[in-house]
Amino acid sequence: MHSIVTLISGRGSNFEAIVKTAQKENWAVQFSGVIANRPEAKGLDFARSHGIPALALDHKAYPDRAAFDRALMQQIDLLKPDLVVLAGFMRILTPEFIRHYAGKLINIHPSLLPSFPGLHTHERALEAGVETHGASVHFVSEGVDEGPIICQASVPVLPGDSAAQLAARVLQMEHQIYPRAVKWYLDGRLRIEGNQVKVYPPESQLFAHE
Ligand code: GRF
Repeated sequence: MHSIVTLISGRGSNFEAIVKTAQKENWAVQFSGVIANRPEAKGLDFARSHGIPALALDHKAYPDRAAFDRALMQQIDLLKPDLVVLAGFMRILTPEFIRHYAGKLINIHPSLLPSFPGLHTHERALEAGVETHGASVHFVSEGVDEGPIICQASVPVLPGDSAAQLAARVLQMEHQIYPRAVKWYLDGRLRIEGNQVKVYPPESQLFAHE
């Protein structure tokens, strides 16, 4: 059975969507642990109430990023993951960490990458006046919000949208595409070819908001 470790910082709704989809579709997977860098992260409560080991590792207790990432790696490795899922984990990771999990570390970012890496993506999409926004699931490489894209969801920007309205529409799609990407990974259907990810047998890697 595959083992998944998830890293969160807050609400954890993407993690919840993955767990619920796995339960509904009877995936052969073990959610071995959830680790939050903020002790108050809401997602830890969901994990505990679903019998998933939940741990807070407060980054403020460590002298620097490298020390925190090393402690994080130790905890993760105890759980022997096949896949490490970043789900709203709001920390920049050291190259050492990223190399350690190369090819089995994935992230979701609330924009159509390579547009709008970084923070405040919904505000920036509105400011830029784009008509289509969205979310991306990608393998993590060493740049911020960079790495081969597994799948994306496109979401329309509607007249008069606030950042919160747009964020909610994007989040709804995040909850659909992240479980799909995880399942593809677990089923061994993903191949990284250069900077692209192919799904075998082929299936659309772009989802559209209805
Ligand atoms: C999501 O929008 C995700 O794309 C971004 O942070 C947010 C996390 O939400 N990286 P949640 O904690 O999964 O509810």
